[in-house]
Amino acid sequence: MARTDNDTWEITESVGATALGVASSRAAETRSENPLIRDPFAQHFLDAAGEGVWNWHSAEQLPPEVIEAEPEIPLQMQAMVSYMACRTAFFDNFFLDATRSGIRQAVILAAGLDARSWRLPWPDGVTIYELDQPKVLDFKASTLAEHGAEPACRRVAVPVDLRHDWPTALQEAGFDTSAASVWSAEGITPYLPAAAQDLLLQRIRELSVAGSRAAVEALGPSFLDPELRAKRRERMDRVRAVMAEVDPQREIPRTDELWYFEEREDVGEWFGRHGWDVTVTTTPELMASYDRRTPEEVEDTTPQNLFVAAQRR
Ligand SMILES: C[S@@+](CC[C@H](N)C(=O)[O-])C[C@H]1O[C@@H](n2cnc3c(N)ncnc32)[C@H](O)[C@@H]1O
Repeated sequence: MARTDNDTWEITESVGATALGVASSRAAETRSENPLIRDPFAQHFLDAAGEGVWNWHSAEQLPPEVIEAEPEIPLQMQAMVSYMACRTAFFDNFFLDATRSGIRQAVILAAGLDARSWRLPWPDGVTIYELDQPKVLDFKASTLAEHGAEPACRRVAVPVDLRHDWPTALQEAGFDTSAASVWSAEGITPYLPAAAQDLLLQRIRELSVAGSRAAVEALGPSFLDPELRAKRRERMDRVRAVMAEVDPQREIPRTDELWYFEEREDVGEWFGRHGWDVTVTTTPELMASYDRRTPEEVEDTTPQNLFVAAQRR
C-alpha cells in the first residue's frame, strides 16, 4: 500500500500493522527458553487483533509450502525476534537509567504497542507521554484495560501524527519544556520522509533543556543499498507468490512500500553538531552486548541500524 502525506491507519492496516509485528516479536521472545526481555502484554495485542500476517514470527504458523520455497525463513524470523529483543532492551535500559538519574518526564515517539509504561519498574513521579496515531493508542489502551492492566507510571496518551504539529499537542498534554526529559524514537525512522525525520530531531532539541537525553534507532548506510533492496524485494515477492497459491486470504504486504528510501542526515553527527554528547552503537555491537548474534546466512535480512544515545550538554 503506497504512502501519502497524510495517511492514517487502524492497528491492522499499513504502518499500524508494523506495531503488531513488533509485538509479535516481543511475544515470541517472551515465550522463548531464555528471554532477554519479558513483555506479558504483547500476546494480548495479538489475541485482540486476530489472525494476520503479524502472527508469523513463529515459524510453526507458516504453511510448510512457504518454508519449502524459502528454507531460511525460520532462521530469518528467529534473527528478527532476537534483534527486536535487543532493541527493546536497549531502550528499556536507556529510559530506566535516565529516570533513575532523576529525569521525570519521558516521551515515547511512535509508541505503537510498546507496553513500557505498564511493564517497567519506573521510579516514583515519572510521567510518560506516548505519541502515535489515535487508533493505535486507542487499541493499546482498550486492550490493556480489558485485561485489567494498570500503568506503572503516570501515562499520558498524545494521539497525533508525527508529521504534524506534535510539540503543541505534547505541551497541551502537560509536557514541561523547563524540565529535563528523556526521549525515544524506536522503529519509526524508515516510516518518515527524510524531511520529517529532520524536523523530528529539531523538535526534540527545541523541547530539551540541558541534561535531557534522547535515543534513536537510526537507519544504517545499508538501508539504501540498491542490491540489498532488490534482494529483499525478490524474497518478499517469492513468499507472496507461494502464499497467494496456498492461502489466498492471507495477502502478505510489501513492507518496503511503507518506507521512505531517501538520503538522510546522519543522526549521531546531527546530535554531536547540536551540542549533545553522543554514543553510536551498531546492530552487531548491540547484539553482542546482550550475548546475541545474527547468523551469517541471514545477516542481510536483519536491520543493520545504528543505536544513537545522546545527552544534551
Ligand atoms: C514499527 S512500529 C514501532 C512501534 C514501537 N516504537 C515499538 O518499537 O514497538 C511503528 C509505529 O510508528 C507509528 N507511526 C509511524 N508513522 C507515524 C506518524 N507519522 N505519526 C504517528 N505515528 C506514526 C505507527 O503507528 C507504529 O505504531
